[in-house]
Amino acid sequence: MKVTFIGGGYVGLVYSIMSAYSGHEVVCLDKDEGKIKLLRESVIPIYEPGLSEYASSVLKEGRIKFLRSYDSSISSSDLFFICVGTPSLPGKGLNLEYIYEALENLLPFLSEGSIIVVKSTVPPGTCDSLKAFLKSAGKECSVISNPEFLREGKAVRDFLNPDRVIIGTRDEKAGKALSDFYRYGKEKNIQIIYTDAVTAELTKYASNAFLAAKVGFINEIADLCEVLGADVKDVSKGMGADPRIGPEFLNPGPGFGGSCFPKDISALAFLAREKGLKSSITEAVIKSNEERAKNLAGKIIKILERNSVKPEEAAVSFFGLSFKAGTDDLRSSPALEIIKILKERVQTIAAYDPALKDKTAPLPLGILNLSSPEGARGYSDAFVIATEWEEFKNLDFSLLSGSGGSKIIIDLRSVTDRAKWRAEGFDYYSIGAVDGA
Ligand code: UGA
Repeated sequence: MKVTFIGGGYVGLVYSIMSAYSGHEVVCLDKDEGKIKLLRESVIPIYEPGLSEYASSVLKEGRIKFLRSYDSSISSSDLFFICVGTPSLPGKGLNLEYIYEALENLLPFLSEGSIIVVKSTVPPGTCDSLKAFLKSAGKECSVISNPEFLREGKAVRDFLNPDRVIIGTRDEKAGKALSDFYRYGKEKNIQIIYTDAVTAELTKYASNAFLAAKVGFINEIADLCEVLGADVKDVSKGMGADPRIGPEFLNPGPGFGGSCFPKDISALAFLAREKGLKSSITEAVIKSNEERAKNLAGKIIKILERNSVKPEEAAVSFFGLSFKAGTDDLRSSPALEIIKILKERVQTIAAYDPALKDKTAPLPLGILNLSSPEGARGYSDAFVIATEWEEFKNLDFSLLSGSGGSKIIIDLRSVTDRAKWRAEGFDYYSIGAVDGA
């Protein structure tokens, strides 16, 4: 099929490159000239394992074109995917101006029956409003909601093996055309769920909010484990073995972050308020995540003090700054939220993150950029593991802490070996473990 993607951000890039790889003829449009230039040279401006290899191969084979401006070559597209950003507004509703801008730019290239597919996460009702907008501009088009469920760091895998595809339209012909786009997943028996646009839009919000609630819930249980002397890992295992609960998203940690969960869950709560409903569960999940950073920062200070380290004279090293492993994305990163609070008391905060490309670039909040884990040697009053990168499992904290100084490991992701570091004389804290606090 011939398909056009508007927006070369995270979702647009993964979808356009991987659609080309799957056999479609693709155009990816982005108004950022610098980005288009890089993309034409196979330089992918996002960190997503595997994607640049796929990009080089589809560019070499001429299956994808990156364009800065709209031109008549897109008129014959079977599908127009909208993948532009929908940033939060101050009250936590969403700014849809980029979606409308994209449609206005598209107008001259649309004809009767053109199919617009909305991948951007938008409030329920948006696709119907967009359809009405196009109609008022003289274009009778189909507007389908087709939410994306890509995880950062695993997006290539998620594209190739989607666990479900949701097609939100009552226009059967348009829905069939979009299901043809997903034919690359046929032999994998992917589940296609056909519904209306409002339901599809709400399903995306409900999915992210439910996962965020699962994370918030296990974090709350982890806190209880610490005071009761229970082990949250085993609680998760025991809960997850029930197929009605499932084992995913039961790892406790410093809270959820990223560009999606915090934004989507706030938008869902905003939507409910706007409609005069009380969404007490959603509101509680937002609040508990905000409090998480505060509580963990307090715990770090407490651990320093019980080791007779004055926070005002301390140098603490963070391992991992991104909101989770497998990405360099710092947006709403729990590590940064904790550091923001710690900075009020702790003298120096340094950090190492394997995904940060420029190991010498200045970091936000005045954090010292350690170009390697070894750099932590000079900042070793406490080591805080904030992101679950594999390589942190094998770090030799004894070497990093040197001799004589304080020996503190605070593992917010439970990736390091508690028994080993305790045996080496560290004051070791990991979330939700027996004797955790
Ligand atoms: C999330 C969804 O998982 C995707 O399905 C969705 O497409 C995407 O948002 C989006 O809306 O575009 P992502 O933001 O990449 O994907 O992150 P997740 O892997 O879902 O993790 C979210 C947060 O929860 C992270 O901070 C992570 O560390 C935290 N988390 C996750 C935990 O603390 N514990 C867990 O057990 C799982």
